[in-house]
Amino acid sequence: MVKKIILDCDPGHDDAVAIMLAAASNDIQILGITCVGGNATLENTKLNALKICSLIERTDIKIYAGSSKPLKYDLITAAHVHGKSGLDKDGDPIVVDASYNIQKENAVDFIINECHKNIDPIYLCPTGPLTNIALSLQKDSSIKEKIKEIVFMGGAALCLGNITPSAEFNIYVDPHAANIVLNSGIPLTMMGLDVTHKVNVNNEIIENIKKINNKASIFFAELMEYYSRFHRELYATDESPLHDPCVIAYLINEDIFNGKLVNVQVEENSELTRGKTVTDWLGVTKRKPNCKVITEANAKQFFTLLAKELAKLI
Ligand code: RIB
Ligand code: CA
Repeated sequence: MVKKIILDCDPGHDDAVAIMLAAASNDIQILGITCVGGNATLENTKLNALKICSLIERTDIKIYAGSSKPLKYDLITAAHVHGKSGLDKDGDPIVVDASYNIQKENAVDFIINECHKNIDPIYLCPTGPLTNIALSLQKDSSIKEKIKEIVFMGGAALCLGNITPSAEFNIYVDPHAANIVLNSGIPLTMMGLDVTHKVNVNNEIIENIKKINNKASIFFAELMEYYSRFHRELYATDESPLHDPCVIAYLINEDIFNGKLVNVQVEENSELTRGKTVTDWLGVTKRKPNCKVITEANAKQFFTLLAKELAKLI
């Protein structure tokens, strides 16, 4: 059965790959893309979403603007990873057709209305800070019954963070929103750094995908060439974790992944550990499990799937 999803994102190089994977898959119907401030400002993330959908000639996908900042903290962006635009890369600039614009409806209202409009519960797939999702739940908590599952990229359960030693970027940017989602009672699956750092792109993979030689694969290669620079420097390796597409790959074939249902709560205030996803892996706190934390992936299966799907695009 085709899964109907809203992809809430902050494009972002890896968000771009998640968008392409979702757009290509016959198992997924994108109800809309909602954008949030994160990797770059909202002005940039929404423009980047328009660029990505224009490049793959999917301007039928409607894009909505959400929150420009977290619930309580000021926005922190990741220009050191994605460049100032949020989608820096070499190669030709992407032209957005003048008729392809951000929808007038706010992302939060779109999420709420789509939840109520669809007979079957839908999937929310956030790959940026969880601000839009939290605002939607705060505005109309009845949508909880209309959401099949929230599969989100964020957190670091048993591993190091990437923006601080203890926190992953998406959760760090808006820890308050993360706790609203974690305490919502909605079925949750967390694609944190524990698993995304087991799905690493490298030059061999980039070259193999580039050989597909369509616009999407060439775009993928250009994105990864830029995106790899930061990871090469920080991790002193030629491997770069492909975080956000893990969310979409999970919806297409969850057998690629493995994890455990545990309790996760987020530190909101500590200067030292803000954004830490405190994960009760051993059940010592007796807190009710609220999230399936994914820690394992079959990287070979993932990249085989990614190449197959990108080849289907323009
Ligand atoms: O920590 C990685 C996450 O933060 C990814 O979603 C990346 O796109 C950024 O949003
Ligand atoms: Ca992202």
